Amino acid sequence: MVKICCLGAGYVGGPTMAVIARKCPSIEVVVVDISVARITAWNSDQLPIYEPGLDDVVKQCRGRNLFFSSDIEKHIAESDIIFVSVNTPTKTRGLGAGKAADLTYWESAARMIADVSKSDKIVVEKSTVPVKTAEAIEKILTHNGRGTNFQILSNPEFLAEGTAIQDLFNPDRVLIGGRETLEGRKAVQALKDVYAHWVPEDRILTTNLWSAELSKLAANAFLAQRISSVNAISALCEATGANVSEVAYAVGKDSRIGPKFLNASVGFGGSCFQKDILNLVYICECNGLPEIAHYWKQVVKINDYQKSRFVNRVISSMFNTVSGKKIAVLGFAFKKDTGDTRETPAIDVCKGLLGDKAKISIYDPQVTEDQIQRDLSVNKIDWDHPLHLQSMSPTAVKQVSVTWDAYEATKGAHGVCILTEWDEFKQLDYQRIYDSMQKPAFIFDGRNVVNVEKLRGIGFIVYSIGKPLDSWLKHMPAVV
Ligand code: UDX
Ligand code: UDX
Ligand code: ADP
Repeated sequence: MVKICCLGAGYVGGPTMAVIARKCPSIEVVVVDISVARITAWNSDQLPIYEPGLDDVVKQCRGRNLFFSSDIEKHIAESDIIFVSVNTPTKTRGLGAGKAADLTYWESAARMIADVSKSDKIVVEKSTVPVKTAEAIEKILTHNGRGTNFQILSNPEFLAEGTAIQDLFNPDRVLIGGRETLEGRKAVQALKDVYAHWVPEDRILTTNLWSAELSKLAANAFLAQRISSVNAISALCEATGANVSEVAYAVGKDSRIGPKFLNASVGFGGSCFQKDILNLVYICECNGLPEIAHYWKQVVKINDYQKSRFVNRVISSMFNTVSGKKIAVLGFAFKKDTGDTRETPAIDVCKGLLGDKAKISIYDPQVTEDQIQRDLSVNKIDWDHPLHLQSMSPTAVKQVSVTWDAYEATKGAHGVCILTEWDEFKQLDYQRIYDSMQKPAFIFDGRNVVNVEKLRGIGFIVYSIGKPLDSWLKHMPAVV
């Protein structure tokens, strides 16, 4: 029986391993993590992450061929294939601060693997890492190992949060990069055999190590670029009277462009896009390609611009001040169907409003108050000026309250900002919300979820990203 061990029981490692276990009953899969609390949660009824369909898959396999454990060294030693799915945040200090990936967790994982391995291992890079990391890891393993053979593979994960289980069951492609040696090819085949349990062969792509590593960064950069492109057009739509939904639909009908991933928004978030692009930027800079670095940097800059444009729109619409006004924020997660708040645009929008002394009342169906308070009180480093800390005063954070109900959040508010596209925000009783709000009542829809005409009919002044402006907003000072 093949045994797989996965280091890192996070958003990627947990669901991916659960699906491998579900699809490969003949393989034993153990997920390990240095966080005992995480492992305890994976073994409980309250899984540490919210992901539609995940509970069912875990319930079907846990205790059968899927295990979660803190006994890291034992399971590493016993495994044939080791997936490494530890976190790779952006470096916050030192060389490359603000852009380069922090590989501390990766390096310590590799050293530990070298230390405890007594039999040959296939080590699979699952977390997104800079191109050529495999080479560095290979060196750590071979220089610290005890004569065992290590084959390194790059097998980047393309799942998106909120649809992780669907994506894993039915991936567009599985990508496996390996060394072009006999041993390397054997290792690629061994991993291919795992996926072949449920993924059609023509969707399993094999490449060299560097192509696989770079494909992941490139795919995320392309996806994020589409959003920054449509968001850039959204600003122009507001200025000209075009409608971004109509424009995106017309553009996406070109089969060379395609219809997906063209929703204008308050900005993209999530743990991957910004981090991976900045990583790409850093790699370009290190390889003497400043023009290419500059090109990709613009994708993140437009995203930052889109968030501050939204904040400016809110403030300028409400007579140029939100000081002391109650602003309801509906949605805090970086997208619907997840409780994840990493790099969510809501953090920057809330901080922007708090900077103008607003009182904020937040409702999100999946994000806890603790998480929101933590996110808003953490000082972020400015990626473009890494010595700069964007800090939030403790008094500003006190202006935040978190509710478990959209009606409670909006009661008595001067304005409502919709920052995540949760389906339930489409079904809210907006007449009831309008009746309970201060007048004039404003709605700023950062996700294009509401029916603008209907809400204007109720009496709201509505701003929706990239949509023709309300006559009210047209007469307010220009947003820059
Ligand atoms: C992304 C990639 O899609 C996935 O392949 C990769 O493995 C990890 O990074 P994820 O961050 O989970 O996945 O979610 P995704 O659906 O890509 O959304 C990222 C952000 O873009 C979200 O904030 C989302 O709201 C935003 N977005 C997405 C838009 O603003 N408009 C769109 O049209 C699509
Ligand atoms: C383009 C648009 O495709 C068309 O829809 C519009 O109406 C007019 O402009 P055209 O300029 O005739 O059409 O040719 P196109 O096939 O788009 O190629 C434009 C240039 O891009 C060419 O120099 C082509 O060689 C280059 N190209 C195209 C690439 O370098 N790589 C590609 O993948 C595709
Ligand atoms: P991702 O979104 O990439 O899955 P997460 O932050 O959700 O990232 O998960 C990464 C997990 O890896 C965390 O639970 C963290 O505790 C774990 N981790 C980090 N370093 C190690 C290590 N050396 N051994 C085992 N687990 C680790």
